[in-house]
Amino acid sequence: NRHLLQIEGMHPPQIDAMLDLAESYVLLNRSGKTQRDLLRGRTLINLFFEDSTRTRTSFELAGKRLGADVINMSVSTSSVNKGETLLDTAATLNAMNCDLLVVRHDQSGAPALLAQKVDAAVINAGDGTHEHPTQALLDALTIRRRKGRLQGLTIAICGDVLHSRVARSNIHLLTAMGSRVRVVGPPTLLPSNAERLGVDVFHDMKSGLDGADIVMMLRLQRERMNRSLIPSFREYFRFYGLDSEKFAYAKPDALVMHPGPMNRGVEIDSAVADHPERSVIKEQVEMGVAVRMAVLDILSRANHRND
Ligand code: CP
Repeated sequence: NRHLLQIEGMHPPQIDAMLDLAESYVLLNRSGKTQRDLLRGRTLINLFFEDSTRTRTSFELAGKRLGADVINMSVSTSSVNKGETLLDTAATLNAMNCDLLVVRHDQSGAPALLAQKVDAAVINAGDGTHEHPTQALLDALTIRRRKGRLQGLTIAICGDVLHSRVARSNIHLLTAMGSRVRVVGPPTLLPSNAERLGVDVFHDMKSGLDGADIVMMLRLQRERMNRSLIPSFREYFRFYGLDSEKFAYAKPDALVMHPGPMNRGVEIDSAVADHPERSVIKEQVEMGVAVRMAVLDILSRANHRND
């Protein structure tokens, strides 16, 4: 495939191949070696219409470690502020012969629209409430490295699933790979069609976490909520915030994950987030660089230029 727009529709062998390649990049990164000729002469543009710390930085690092010229376009100081449309912005970047375009946008489907209009390979770095494919891949790599497999694991995705593109990509990936996926949260924050996505639905943390191998916490995506529907943080933490007491409902060797950014004291307590053995949140960030190197590697080969 020329682009990476979503996990939905990807087959297990494709996912396994990406994770295997990412695994080799974990080892390369840890050894301190680089592979700077792979993308030499290629240009990667990070085009982020929404804020980001992890995704934008790790795509920049991944591109540079493979030898690409990386440009971070600052949308807040670009001509988008003068009324230039998404498609005109893309056409402008296309005219500069960009090879890889990494796009984050608040509108679901924006990267797919761009993919029809530009010659570059487009990578979805998160679009609206739709998908965040590289996040799901890095989460899967983290789980596979720690638990040795994805198949048969019970994975509880907790909190604001309704507005979460991370949750949607993870549900598609993990169900495809044979994990048992649960969503846990108040009815107002779970998608009404959750069962049709192949997951089990729980409204309380005790039953939702019972026997879970992995507990994946999500931030309340206030920026996507109607203001009148934003819950009180204190009340939310009491019922759905992951503290040591609620974490004890999961298996004794369960791991906690969070895609970031975390809101401590809202969806997760620091004692759990910083747990030395059972929190893999920092490891997720490390895996993010390796996964993005693997994605750039695969897409650059699929979009090979004869120059
Ligand atoms: N997980 C994630 O997408 O983080 P950023 O918003 O910081 O990129």
